[in-house]
Amino acid sequence: MNEVRRLLPDRHTVSHPASPERLRERGFDQALAKAMAMSSEAIIAEIIASGIKGRGGAAFPTGLKWSSVNKAAGQTKYVVMNADESELGTFKDRVLLEEDPLGALVGLLIAAHAVGARKAFCYIRGEYREVEHRLARALDILQQEGWGGPDAVDVEIRRGAGAYIAGEETALFNSIEGKRPEPRVKPPFPTNKGLWGSPTLIQNVETLANVAVLFAHDAAWFTQYGTKDTAGTKLIALSGHIQHPGVYEVPFGMPLADILHAPDLGGSLAGSGRLGAVLLGGAAGTFLSPDEVATSRLDYASLGAVGASIGSGAVMVFDDTVDLQWVLTKLARFFAEESCGQCVPCRIGTQRIMEIAEQGNLWTRNQDLRALSQAMRDASICGLGQTAPLALLSILDRPGLRRDA
Ligand SMILES: Cc1cc2nc3c(=O)[nH]c(=O)nc-3n(C[C@H](O)[C@H](O)[C@H](O)COP(=O)(O)O)c2cc1C
Ligand code: SF4
Repeated sequence: MNEVRRLLPDRHTVSHPASPERLRERGFDQALAKAMAMSSEAIIAEIIASGIKGRGGAAFPTGLKWSSVNKAAGQTKYVVMNADESELGTFKDRVLLEEDPLGALVGLLIAAHAVGARKAFCYIRGEYREVEHRLARALDILQQEGWGGPDAVDVEIRRGAGAYIAGEETALFNSIEGKRPEPRVKPPFPTNKGLWGSPTLIQNVETLANVAVLFAHDAAWFTQYGTKDTAGTKLIALSGHIQHPGVYEVPFGMPLADILHAPDLGGSLAGSGRLGAVLLGGAAGTFLSPDEVATSRLDYASLGAVGASIGSGAVMVFDDTVDLQWVLTKLARFFAEESCGQCVPCRIGTQRIMEIAEQGNLWTRNQDLRALSQAMRDASICGLGQTAPLALLSILDRPGLRRDA
């Protein structure tokens, strides 16, 4: 077996995802009891020892972030679970929350205790109605079992309304505060000034689920899987020309080829059966050539060597009949529509790239596209504008991926 199920519950689990039985089967009641008896410093030391990095895309060390919020001055602090999940090809948080809503919530309660927050928010992608129901039920279970609630940590569920940019942490804060979801200029960072100007810890769903399983065990157990640099497992959302699309949990360090071909993972290629390219990390990700897929592993060092990153864990497979100029045109439209328009390089840059793509000129306007991309990366105020040209640049750098090459 190549799949490792730690964050995702065992396939043979029979209890309801949000039930007292599940809380006990997964060891989450013990995780909470253990964490609540620990000091903030001891909890944060355990997170640092585990080496958990954020799973929302940027892979920022989680323990460092918790430590900053814990030390930040201020009476009022907040924690937020980011379940906006609007990145193209990314659907792992949805599956995780549907299959095991208690895990991420347990991680959220531990986080609140560690940083001294009395109020927490779960910000869920608007279309995820089933997730919302399951989270609400899981919250009830936790309160019935004596964890959380208005006297301890008050957890509130908020639904987004369909904007990709609302997943960016500071835009998300504005959305919770009832404002337009427009990113704020950083610094100040959320760890010092987040929701309503107070220190705020924001983590991806999968990051919080890692915290829950860590405290149900310990750092030595946690680091049994993964690499020296990145411990643990990663949820992968596999889609496109693949026999078994879906969400899989695999150890860091697994060869990308195994993710595509192992019988209990992708199975093998679909479509023509010949690999054209893999888009890793979603719309703001990197196209990899078949050779790079054959030699790379799912870890930051291996992927960094070919200029790629794991991002949110989206793995989109294209066979060799797909015209990647067509794919890039779709991505360009996506960014032009989703840019909040607040800053010029991104508002105009995403439009210009879309126009060039729609005219079918991507390959002939190479230099113009590189100049535009540089301006966007240098002068956009948030990650959307800074990363929107990455997939395009990855193909300009790999002319062998063009079907007309
Ligand atoms: C345009 C944009 C969209 C984002 N969408 C999400 C999202 O849907 N979910 C998420 O966890 N992080 C998203 N992020 C990253 C968040 O800003 C933030 O870094 C993350 O929630 C931190 O959690 P982590 O440290 O656990 O990864 C997005 C970033 C950008 C720039
Ligand atoms: S980079 Fe784009 S999405 Fe981000 S704030 Fe500027 S205009 Fe808005």
